[in-house]
Amino acid sequence: MTKILTTTAELDDFRQHLGQKTLGFVPTMGNLHAGHLSLLQIAQQHADVSMASIFVNPTQFGENEDLDAYPRTFEADYAQLQAAGVDAVFYPSEETLYPHGKDNTLSIELPAHMTNILCGLDRPTHFQGVATVVAKLLQLVKPTVAVFGEKDFQQLAIVRRLAEELFIPTDILSGKIVREADGLAMSSRNQYLDDKQRQQAVWLCKTLQTCRQRLLAGESVDAVLTAGKQQLNQHAIQVEYLNFRDADTLAEAPAELSRGILLVAGRLGRTRLIDNLRI
Ligand code: PAJ
Repeated sequence: MTKILTTTAELDDFRQHLGQKTLGFVPTMGNLHAGHLSLLQIAQQHADVSMASIFVNPTQFGENEDLDAYPRTFEADYAQLQAAGVDAVFYPSEETLYPHGKDNTLSIELPAHMTNILCGLDRPTHFQGVATVVAKLLQLVKPTVAVFGEKDFQQLAIVRRLAEELFIPTDILSGKIVREADGLAMSSRNQYLDDKQRQQAVWLCKTLQTCRQRLLAGESVDAVLTAGKQQLNQHAIQVEYLNFRDADTLAEAPAELSRGILLVAGRLGRTRLIDNLRI
């Protein structure tokens, strides 16, 4: 049975019974898919006991974003966690994580160079909200390891920095992007796409693949990214960014091609999707 923990007291009690056992943790916003489950598998491989959290974190949504519409599917999520043999799910209320209210919370400020690029450009307060909730969750859960997806590559870099600079003794691990059969990166937001948009969405990953091949063939970064943006536009994807960056530092222009990563964000109608590909 997967235990449901909603309060900090229940969480403390669960932790007390762990004894010497290690704990692997995967924070999520629910509406679970195979991508989330792959992270839980990694947690299970690296720790004795596994836990997921489900919390749609209000502070990481901008004013005009999809907080209210974000799919909340606890029962189906719980069934998946149970089937995957996850030991516990932390399912806190907003009051538990934001005891002074979400608009009156202490908040973590990040170095500008990590947030005024890529997804931070169109979502200026997003990563502050992510960092704040992840810090709270890691302090409460105190896991031995926590697993984050490479799909949200900038988020992963920020979480690593957060754990390092706040001296949080949790090992941060990452899991590869899990994709649909045609290559589209799995996301809770894919269900917002209509049939036509769903077909067009595959061009996010197809374009990254084309860009990768061209870079490896020696074409200039500028030429490759310009052609990539055109390809996305041709398939009705409104490009927010298509960038080539250093996978370790997120700085522009990686020292070597092999250290590079292509990252893309685009909109199909009102749905915003992201993807990335290592060289
Ligand atoms: P959420 O979007 O629910 O994602 C939870 C975790 O699953 C993240 O680490 C994300 O990178 C990972 N993930 C999502 N899609 C994936 C895929 N296709 N393949 C592999 N991993 C995937 O990310 C968040 O929630 C929130 O920002 C959170 C970290 C929970 C803080 O609120």
